Amino acid sequence: MPEQRDWYDTPLYYDIIFDADTPKEGAFLQALHEHFGRSGKSRQLLEPACGSGRLVSEMTRRGWKVSGFDGNTRMLDFAKERLQQQGLKARIWEDWMQSFELPKLQTFDFAHCLVSTFKYLLKEQDAVACLQRVASVLKPGAIFVLGVHLTDYSSIKEEHERWVAERDGIKVTCNTHTWPADRKKRLEDLRTRLTILDSGRRHVQETRWQFRTYNAKQMRALLAKVPAFELVACYDFTYDLLSPRELNDSYSDVVLVLKKK
Ligand SMILES: C[S@@+](CC[C@H](N)C(=O)[O-])C[C@H]1O[C@@H](n2cnc3c(N)ncnc32)[C@H](O)[C@@H]1O
Repeated sequence: MPEQRDWYDTPLYYDIIFDADTPKEGAFLQALHEHFGRSGKSRQLLEPACGSGRLVSEMTRRGWKVSGFDGNTRMLDFAKERLQQQGLKARIWEDWMQSFELPKLQTFDFAHCLVSTFKYLLKEQDAVACLQRVASVLKPGAIFVLGVHLTDYSSIKEEHERWVAERDGIKVTCNTHTWPADRKKRLEDLRTRLTILDSGRRHVQETRWQFRTYNAKQMRALLAKVPAFELVACYDFTYDLLSPRELNDSYSDVVLVLKKK
């Protein structure tokens, strides 16, 4: 039987799986900022729900002064330790996407929140609050890049994704199942199983959670509630700056570029 455990309480295993894409994501974020974002020398960056800090380190290395917060202290400890090991500095603290606090007058030139993290906000009012808070601390012209998986409500099959990654002799296999969404409740059930092979020992741990669901229309309706942001571009997860897409339901993995007015 797998052990029931929040996978964010074991940041190393999360990080081994997700870190594989970090350089590619960092390069794309940088390209989006240069193309759509605010010009000028100031480089203050905010990452709500920064997790294990893989992108905190990546963007700090790219010259950004990063501030990141998360609701899970184990993820934050991991992020801080990595920064220290790499000789990098960033501001990391415990906080919540829907209610985070910043020192008065602190403002940012760029913000991002990838890998569907925003969908952890299960209520519309929390999603709106998060967008409003991010907008309120961004300087005019700065962008907020939001990466989410859109839901196809007509789907009746469960989806399955599998990733395998290895670092320092630890091999992690991640199997994630997503069940068909409840259209009325705007919720989908997910389950991730991590199989960890470490020093000849095999261990399986399982996490179950829910995401708020969005199709393209619901995402547009949410964005309309936060007029401080304008949707200036949309991409898919090929991360190709030269291939923008319409925000519609023909594909599921979307990267929204929201510009602070
Ligand atoms: C998929 S991870 C993403 C981490 C990081 N942004 C990345 O790209 O690797 C989701 C993170 O969101 C955090 N989280 C979930 N709900 C949150 C909330 N309401 N406020 C703050 N953090 C939250 C979790 O603790 C976890 O670290």
